[in-house]
Amino acid sequence: MSVALIILAAGKGTRMNSDLPKVLHPIGGAPMLHHAMQAGASLEPEHTVVVAGFGSDAVTRAALAYDFEAQVVVQDEQLGTAHAAAQARDALAGFEGRAIVLFGDTPFVRPETLEALMNATADITVLGFEAADPARYGRLVMDGDQLQRIVEFKDATEAERAISLCNSGVLAAPAPLLFELIAEVGKDNAQGEYYLTDLPALARARGLDVSVVRCDEAETLGINSRAQLASAEAQFQATARADLLEDGVTLAAPDTVFLSLDTLVGRDTLVEPNVVFGPGVTVESGATIRAFSHLEGCHVSRGAIVGPYARLRPGAELAEDVRVGNFVEVKNATLGTGAKANHLSSIGDAPIGEASNIGAGTITCNYDGVMKHHTEIGARAFIGSNTMLIAPVSIGDEAMTGSGSVITSDVESGALALARAPQVEKPGMARKLFDILKAKKAKQSRGS
Ligand code: UD1
Ligand code: MG
Repeated sequence: MSVALIILAAGKGTRMNSDLPKVLHPIGGAPMLHHAMQAGASLEPEHTVVVAGFGSDAVTRAALAYDFEAQVVVQDEQLGTAHAAAQARDALAGFEGRAIVLFGDTPFVRPETLEALMNATADITVLGFEAADPARYGRLVMDGDQLQRIVEFKDATEAERAISLCNSGVLAAPAPLLFELIAEVGKDNAQGEYYLTDLPALARARGLDVSVVRCDEAETLGINSRAQLASAEAQFQATARADLLEDGVTLAAPDTVFLSLDTLVGRDTLVEPNVVFGPGVTVESGATIRAFSHLEGCHVSRGAIVGPYARLRPGAELAEDVRVGNFVEVKNATLGTGAKANHLSSIGDAPIGEASNIGAGTITCNYDGVMKHHTEIGARAFIGSNTMLIAPVSIGDEAMTGSGSVITSDVESGALALARAPQVEKPGMARKLFDILKAKKAKQSRGS
């Protein structure tokens, strides 16, 4: 069946107390909006229309970053959810399939639930849930199997407020019917807004079928405040950790591992405690990410061992069996198969060949204060401890640098480069120096 998503994301989110539009606040390293788009994407929609309003430029950029084919329409004034959905009318002109309305601030609706909505046969289907505390949600007034109407909390009587079956905000209807009914919505209600929730009653008045699909309350968590954002983050992390465990990843202390919406970790990888996966991380099967490592925008191949205390920044690509040890930072650099940087290094803008060894304290000095430059290191090279590689510079295959070298020009394949002051040795001089210094100290303490 062909589906169009309409994602409402125009609201300011006043209770967030923020300059950032609500739907751009991150959960699992990705804007809330991406979560709703990802859930919807599982239906392989023909159209995805995002309704932006407050901060529409930023919301447009975020929507297109997730799906460059998404259509963004702007609702200039936020006159209510029906008015918001109406903004998608032109974008969906001629589309005869099913429209599903989602909220950009309701990130956890599961794909299975959306599938149930897509496959429902009633004219309109609303996603409802039994609320432990119905609070200010709209209430679903049922008549047998039929949803008679939705009443907003502010318009509800005491008896209606006692209903615990609530409106998630998500609904599905054939697109032409959706827009036809929206055109009939008025704003004679407590908030003077065009409510999307008027649709069921309008449909029933025409003798149409209106059904409810029920989901778990956790799926409908709407975010209106920073406190709800924090609980949403916790809920996201709990689900993402459980999914990884299910996928055959070992998390030694799941509660201390933090994941992003797009984190991918292969089977039989071990993740030790206190590891953070920022956005854009993929780890193949059978890798080990040791404790206290921080990864972002990087790829780790099979058999690689990262950390403890390693930092992989965007563009770090580790081939199979690479070792990146404690206090090593890697950015925009590829480490070839079996390459090792085991301690205290900063490696940036550097392709490094297979089986090369980067000694402790090595730095690829890639930034001259204005521009970034590359350091190329060949295969099976040996970079001595505390080598400063002043980029742009290249080190050939099987070349070696002496510890403490400051390398400013290219080193050819197979060569040993020593770039440090030669050692000078003066026999007996240390003893003499000690005697002079001790005499000086004794004189000072007599004087004081
Ligand atoms: C809405 C429902 C309520 C439901 C609740 C679930 C209506 C009238 N009420 O109430 O029944 O229980 O969600 O969370 O639909 N938006 C726009 N433009 C607007 C107004 C809203 O884009 O003019 C967007 C918001 O950005 C948000 C979504 O629509 O993503 C919901 O709006 P919100 O004001 O949060 O509605 P609620 O009062 O929560
Ligand atoms: Mg809301």
